[in-house]
Amino acid sequence: MGSMESRILEIIEKHKSRDSKILPILHGVQDEFGYIPEKAIKLIARELRMKPGEIYDTASFYSFFRFEPPGKHIVRVCDCMVCHIKGASEIIHRIEKEFNIHMGETTKDGKFTFETVEGLGHCDESPVMMIDDKIYGNLDPMKAMKILRGYEQ
Ligand code: FES
Repeated sequence: MGSMESRILEIIEKHKSRDSKILPILHGVQDEFGYIPEKAIKLIARELRMKPGEIYDTASFYSFFRFEPPGKHIVRVCDCMVCHIKGASEIIHRIEKEFNIHMGETTKDGKFTFETVEGLGHCDESPVMMIDDKIYGNLDPMKAMKILRGYEQ
């Protein structure tokens, strides 16, 4: 695998000629590294002849993009309408309390990054969370914590 810089440049090159290129580039970088490193912001700005601040503003507009390396497991808790009505906020509260974090943050031990998302497409099992690629439904705060503790081993 090439250096971080050469991979970022390849990703930029691949999308450079498209009209709306910034988002595909940012997605490509995040897919590759799990987050948008500062180096990527600088390289994208240089290659597209823009200011780093402009790239950063675009990226930070979307909660999807991360600017820090993610934890070992990415936990996405759905807080869309159906999940919300069925108690997603109690689950979110419990997680924030137990892990002493806020949504969008990574635990100090680097095990989990927690995020809220708008709809995981499993409304019939709501409330729902996704850990890495696995969906867990019909949750309550206790059940969610039990599942998360299982990932700590
Ligand atoms: S609202 Fe959460 S999965 Fe549909």
